[in-house]
Amino acid sequence: MSAVVARATRLLGGKGVRLADPAAILGALPVPVVLLDHGNRFRHVNHAAEQFLGISAVGLAQLRLEDLLPPDNPLFMLIEQVRGTEVTISDHDLNLESPRLHKRGITVQGSPLPEEPGSVLLVMQDASAARALDRQLAFRGAARSVTGMAAILAHEVKNPLSGIRGAAQLLESSVGSADRELAELIRDEADRIRDLVDRMEAFGEKPIARTAVNIHRVLEHVRKLAQSGFAAHIKFHELYDPSLPPVWANRDQLIQVVLNLVKNAAEAVTQEGVHHPEITLTTGFQHGMRVAIPGSTGRLDLPLFVVIRDNGHGIPEDIRPHLFEPFVTSKPTGSGLGLSLVAKIIGDHGGLIEVDSRPGRTEFRLHLPVVTEKDADQ
Ligand SMILES: Nc1ncnc2c1ncn2[C@@H]1O[C@H](COP(=O)(O)OP(=O)(O)OP(=O)(O)O)[C@@H](O)[C@H]1O
Ligand SMILES: [Mg+2]
Repeated sequence: MSAVVARATRLLGGKGVRLADPAAILGALPVPVVLLDHGNRFRHVNHAAEQFLGISAVGLAQLRLEDLLPPDNPLFMLIEQVRGTEVTISDHDLNLESPRLHKRGITVQGSPLPEEPGSVLLVMQDASAARALDRQLAFRGAARSVTGMAAILAHEVKNPLSGIRGAAQLLESSVGSADRELAELIRDEADRIRDLVDRMEAFGEKPIARTAVNIHRVLEHVRKLAQSGFAAHIKFHELYDPSLPPVWANRDQLIQVVLNLVKNAAEAVTQEGVHHPEITLTTGFQHGMRVAIPGSTGRLDLPLFVVIRDNGHGIPEDIRPHLFEPFVTSKPTGSGLGLSLVAKIIGDHGGLIEVDSRPGRTEFRLHLPVVTEKDADQ
């Protein structure tokens, strides 16, 4: 490690700049970091890891990971995969539970240490992705109440609504021009209510029909739609990875997801004070991104990511904690259903959504499953 310090010192201009001891840096990190050797013995733990595991460094030095967790814990699988593939793998929403340890929903990142074959560096955190997942899970409950309401609305509102719309249309053709405007207003507002009810109906708990979907076709479809309508004034950038495999998804629902995110981005950059409104669509492949499959101990790989980024003012602070809940909006005419629908669809696909927002840069990142051999056989 002193070689690292020497090099960093050189990079920082040599004389006068000295970095602290790397062990001290590791110790000061507020994130639990653990180094396991090839036999899963605790070679190094930082202070945050001692607190996280509830055991002192001295105590841990006598232990192996097997002493803390049962052998079927998915963390062992992650560690073996890191050793086998020699790449960094992150696992979200892990439960580290045993008589000694009670940690749920933890994100663990495992990295190989090429200098020490068999060693694995584990970084554990209640990371933003895990929190996003929490929000999604919490949101599912909310979505369910919307489902019930949507069914009632569809039943009780849609029929009389079509009557109102029809009557307004009849009036339009028989009244004078002054009143025609009013009749048109009734028709337009009836349409708006129908659209809202239609959107709420999308929360239904129907099984989704999936096929192999080319994510770039979905993105391009939405981009063209946006640029010929609500985003005509906005500059789009596409940073696509052309080698991506197809995602295992319902195409129409993915379009709905991307459309809602692009629409939000377009609305964000249309606000006053945004000088060069821009939306960037990025795709890529990332190894080792996995989440738990609800109701099983299995893990689902989510190697494909899509990022929708804008340079608007960012998500208002007060609504961030409730972002994915239905009816949360900061817009005078917004329904607040867009993001809750997005989270529901992504959740139904077994995917994950992360948000990172600050003034001038808001990013919604989707992690999606790709077609596997098993899916292709279906
Ligand atoms: N890219 C973004 N930049 C800034 N704020 C955003 C962004 N995306 C969403 N938001 C905030 O999140 C809120 C909720 O978004 P959501 O799409 O769920 O509803 P909405 O856009 O207000 O209404 P709807 O989508 O139903 O027309 C928005 O009102 C806005 O305050
Ligand atoms: Mg919206």
